[in-house]
This record gives sequence, C-alpha cells and structure tokens, in this order.
Amino acid sequence: MEMIYVDHAATSPLHPEVIEAMLPYYQTVFGNPSSIHQIGRQARQAIDQARRTIAKKLGTSDQNLVFTSGGTEADNMAILGYALEHELNGKHIITSQIEHHAVLHACEELEKRGFDVTYLPVDETGRVSVNDVQEALRDDTILVTLMFGNNEVATVQPIKEIGDVLKGHQAAFHTDAVQACGVIELNVSELPVDMLSISAHKINGPKGIGLLYVRNGVKLRPVLFGGEQERKRRAGTENVAAIVGFAKAMEIAVDSIEERQELYQQFSKILIDTWTKEEVIFSINGHQHERLPHVVNVSFRGVNIESLLMNLDLTGIAASSGSACTAGSIEPSHVLVAMFGKADERIQSAIRFSFGLGNTVEQIQRVANETAQIVKRLGQQSEFIS
Ligand SMILES: Cc1ncc(COP(=O)(O)O)c(C=O)c1O
Repeated sequence: MEMIYVDHAATSPLHPEVIEAMLPYYQTVFGNPSSIHQIGRQARQAIDQARRTIAKKLGTSDQNLVFTSGGTEADNMAILGYALEHELNGKHIITSQIEHHAVLHACEELEKRGFDVTYLPVDETGRVSVNDVQEALRDDTILVTLMFGNNEVATVQPIKEIGDVLKGHQAAFHTDAVQACGVIELNVSELPVDMLSISAHKINGPKGIGLLYVRNGVKLRPVLFGGEQERKRRAGTENVAAIVGFAKAMEIAVDSIEERQELYQQFSKILIDTWTKEEVIFSINGHQHERLPHVVNVSFRGVNIESLLMNLDLTGIAASSGSACTAGSIEPSHVLVAMFGKADERIQSAIRFSFGLGNTVEQIQRVANETAQIVKRLGQQSEFIS
C-alpha cells in the first residue's frame, strides 16, 4: 500500500538536495563556527553564505536575520524580546484569537508579567478586521503581532492594510509567516513589518531551525543568555548543518513558488470536484481567495473526525485534524472556535489536508476518492445511530 502524506503543514520531508547540502557539515566541516582554526572558519563561512542566500530570498540584508531553533523560538524572541525591551513605552499588545500557540502562549506569559493583551476576533473566513486593529490601538500599544497565513484554515491576513493603520504609531509589527513561507512570495522590503518569523521544516528543510527577520534598528532583549553568537542576539553554538539545509530549502522553495501554487490549486480542485460529484456534504473552511494554496480545511457534516482520520490512516493516507499541537488530543480547534463559535457543528467534523513535496495528481485523486467513500460510510452510520 502506497503511503500518501498530505500533512505538510505539520511538517514536511527533507528535500534530497537539502540532505546532500547538509551532510558535509556533520561529517567533515563539523567545526564550531566560533573556533579560529580552519575547520571552524569553514563552518563560519557556511553560515555566512547561508544567511546571505536566505536574506536575498527574503529581500533583505543578512544582518537582519537571527537564526533560532524554529518558528516557536522566533515568535517568542519577537514577542517577549520586543515587549521586555520596550515596556517603558507601554504595556499593551495586540494579537488575534487564531494565532499559533507559539504566539498565544508567549502573549499569555506577558500577561502574567503585567502586560495587557487584546486578542482580536476574526470573521467566519478567519480574517481580522483592519478596523478592529485601528480601534484596539492605544497610546501605550507597543506591539502588534498577527500571523501572515493561518496553519489550520489557510486564511491570509490583510498585512499591508494593517501596516497602513500602524503608520506613524509607535507599535512594532510582527508577523508569523511560518506557514506562508515557501508558498507565497515574502519580500520584507515591501512588507510593512518590523519582524517576521519563519521555520525550515515547513519548507522541506530540517526541523529545529528557523529565523526571525528583524528590521534594521529594531531592538530586542535577548531571550537566551550565553555566548555572543548571532551578534549577541541569540546565544548558543549555531546548528551549522541545519542552517545550510535551511538555505538550500529556501532557495528551492522560493524558486518554485509559482509552479507549486498552480499544482496545489489543481489539487484543491480535484478534492472539491470529486466530493461534489460523489454528493458528499462538505464545506470548506477559511477564506475563498485570500488563502495559502497548500492547505484545504474541510468539514464533513455528521462525520466523527477521529474515525475519518483513523480510516484514512488505515488506507495509508496521513492527514490532520488541525494544528499538529492539538492533533492527537483532538481538542476543538481554537481557530475554528474563533471563526464559528463553540457550538458550531463544523468544528467537530473538520479535517485538514496539506500538500507538498512528493504529492502527485494521482495521489490526490486517491485521497479524494477514499475520503468520499469513508465519509459516506461514516455519515450513514452516524445518521443510523441518531
Ligand atoms: C503558524 C505557525 N507558527 C509557528 C509554528 C511553530 O514552528 P516550529 O515548529 O518551527 O517551532 C508553526 C508550526 O506548526 C506554525 O504553523
């Protein structure tokens, strides 16, 4: 039985070229980049080169990138690091109810430390209202942190318009672009953001490496203390091989964005057309147009999602009930609750398919067919029981 992986928003396989690029940094060029001998200097050069590569792909200078252990640390660095450095200017932060827990829990930590956080609501498509941002802004607001694209429902936020609202205000603007990176063009010189988080394992790079873009002149208090790595912004011996792999993954992802956008649109269409033809009752969650192309979140009315996921797994298909952190426990998704309210049936029956490296038209057609058959079977059972 062929395994079909459609959970790329949780994590993604390493691209073969990424593995190839990384190997020398485990085997021969294993030096500590802070060491002054040759092998250390070679490791340092590899980091410098990787940083330049990623900076170019993000439209910025290499000095503005801080490598971290992933998206979670980048979000924490931005939120805690900025808030603690600037608390004398105010203690108010604006975020949304549908952020990743890396943002939500960092904000909750700040609340415990005396900060005031506004968690903006979203509409049924998962979008924050620009007007709500405007109304929530106060003289003591120091930071606005809103995600670029949502990891569960794919909705993209109106980042440019929110940036316009923040013009002339002291508040810094951070965006979690972990899911958007590699599927949507991100050029920080054109985006109105001061900080932006990304993570390698979502774009066929290794796990445990990410970065925070920090606009020139924006000051952060370090979250980790130790050595002077990353120009004193992030202590700890650099993960050289992972950084090299991250740069390779970034190059491949950014250079193939357009063709993959088209392919993922085709995949989405296959799912939707098949379910329509099979007369399955379903509704797509998230915004219809303002969306990340690689994620389809769908509710199948009356279907127990745990049973659907288990049945799919038995046929070799790996999908997800939502974010990786809540999968397993299958708690109601905080994103869907924010969009629809607690009592809505769509929350109990939502499943996320996310596309990436290795997926083919044939695979997605099989995913569509198997899902339709299982949904019909389970749907009939649940109607029978009730
Ligand atoms: C939107 C978003 N932000 C942050 C993260 C955390 O990134 P990492 O797994 O690299 O810590 C994720 C991962 O699921 C994510 O989807």
